Amino acid sequence: MRLILLGAPGCGKGTHSAWMVEELGIPQISTGDILRDAVKEGSELGRQARSYMDSGELVPDSVILGLMRGRMAQPDAARGFILDGFPRTIPQAEGLNGALGDAGMKLDRVLQINVARDELIHRLTSRRVCPNCKAVYNLDFKPPKQGDICDACGASVVQRDDDREATVAQRLEVYERQTAPLIDYYIARGLVAVIDGNQGYAHTRAEIETALGREAKR
Ligand code: AP5
Repeated sequence: MRLILLGAPGCGKGTHSAWMVEELGIPQISTGDILRDAVKEGSELGRQARSYMDSGELVPDSVILGLMRGRMAQPDAARGFILDGFPRTIPQAEGLNGALGDAGMKLDRVLQINVARDELIHRLTSRRVCPNCKAVYNLDFKPPKQGDICDACGASVVQRDDDREATVAQRLEVYERQTAPLIDYYIARGLVAVIDGNQGYAHTRAEIETALGREAKR
């Protein structure tokens, strides 16, 4: 199964990828995680990406398309994947079509997760993440069990640099301008299932499971 999770920063793409990886047995491919790892390693990709990410802007399409072609060609992606944060522009969507077409593959579904703007800002500014295992927490909804210690791996959880309020506002503006047009792009191709992400985790998960034609498990 080849899926896209499409939605604004903070709508729950990473949160819901976590259980989908287990349930569907396919990898999550998060361009944000790949770029943050590159920044941490100080690689050439990381050097190119850092200033865009810190200011809430998108990394250039040519950079993203190059890295995604390589990632989607890896063996673990042969049976399918969950794309989290890609594509984010029409040229990226066209590039994805080309890469899938070259490999004789097609997309199965685009899950468009809707969350109100005030809720997105609240979720992002109170999010904490584990820089080691990538687990996602929220100070209000899902705090780590012990202080700032990751439940899964014991590392210290942190606030992402781009989760400070001014950068969050810029990311939301960039989403509306550059990424939201993808909704109509994929509606025109008959691929979109709309998910109400405003409710709690279990409700959103059940909507996704229904959209994928699976038994809701809570
Ligand atoms: P990226 O890492 O992709 O960030 P994003 O799209 O802005 O999405 P987030 O990871 O912030 O949010 P999410 O939807 O995963 O939400 P989460 O599940 O964590 O990209 C970062 C940057 O990299 C970009 O700004 C750009 O510069 C660059 N980049 C990446 N991809 C690119 C591309 N393709 N092209 C160009 N540049 C690119 O949830 C958020 C919080 O809410 C968490 O705390 C969670 O616990 C909580 N939460 C989730 N669901 C619920 C719920 N139902 N109820 C209550 N709380 C909830």
